Amino acid sequence: MTRRRLLALLAAALLLGACSDSPSVLDAKGDEARHLAGTWWLMFGLAAAVYVVVGGFIVVAIIRRRDAGQAGSSAAGDSRFLWLGGIVMPVVVLAVLAVVTINSTRNLRTAAGDELKLEVVGKRWWWEVRYPDDQVVTANEIHVPVGRPVDIVLTSDNVVHSFWVPQLAGKVDMIPGQTNHLRFTAEKPGTYLGECAEFCGIQHARMRFLVIAEEPSAFDRWLGRRRQVRPTPTSEQEAQGQRVFMREACAGCHTIRGTPARGQVGPDLTDFGQRRFIGAVTEPNTEGHRAAWISNSQTMKPGNLMPPIALEPEELDAVVAYLGSLE
Ligand code: CUA
Repeated sequence: MTRRRLLALLAAALLLGACSDSPSVLDAKGDEARHLAGTWWLMFGLAAAVYVVVGGFIVVAIIRRRDAGQAGSSAAGDSRFLWLGGIVMPVVVLAVLAVVTINSTRNLRTAAGDELKLEVVGKRWWWEVRYPDDQVVTANEIHVPVGRPVDIVLTSDNVVHSFWVPQLAGKVDMIPGQTNHLRFTAEKPGTYLGECAEFCGIQHARMRFLVIAEEPSAFDRWLGRRRQVRPTPTSEQEAQGQRVFMREACAGCHTIRGTPARGQVGPDLTDFGQRRFIGAVTEPNTEGHRAAWISNSQTMKPGNLMPPIALEPEELDAVVAYLGSLE
């Protein structure tokens, strides 16, 4: 490879890195994330100091180029240097890091007692979200109140996933047959991007979600609306969409509360119309994307469990309208 091509590749990699929409762990928006960011900076500082000191010794060694005759006369100094630099210093540095890490972990595990309980299940490239105290089930978009700790029970019904909202908390694995807990408190209203942090198959990169932190009153309104069931279509087109949905395979895989649709394979669609994205933050929830997804979601997210659904154009429009009305 020529030097120019190599430079071009490096520049492209840097640019792509800069364009990434992944949030930074150092842009903490909650106490838990701030703990972790502090630990990160401490590790970075210590590693940088060790790097500079070791680099300095190498430079000194090169400059001094001591000859063999002098080596014997400073053997005692060399051995003291080896003990200090090779054993004492690493033990001190690692001990400091161990104490800080254990302390951070303990702080992150402490329960406050008045947490909002949530359950999130890792699915094959999407996230089922339950509010068990309110019998509300949704997917991929997790609404939480600002200022109140959230306790999320995490598990998976397939392979291992990892739940990660970099600005709010650390990663916690979702393991089939086991439950793990994650706690965080969002400090400010906002939308925080989360992603799967454990390789889980070909759509691992499109297994994302949102944490939408709202003022407590707005959150209560949101949850209150989710508790009600309003499946009745308000137009003839939506009614036709509902009929088609129940007739086709859709109802066998998805649940829409208040209707015969009781499927458990795909996401619960009871409040689908108010979600911002489809396909676990794959595309914005627009009519065009909904239509494309229903026709053949495999072109948008290859390997996902939903088969193509062949519908007449009019029926497709009707289902798109019906799904958009569900909120
Ligand atoms: Cu789920 Cu990676």
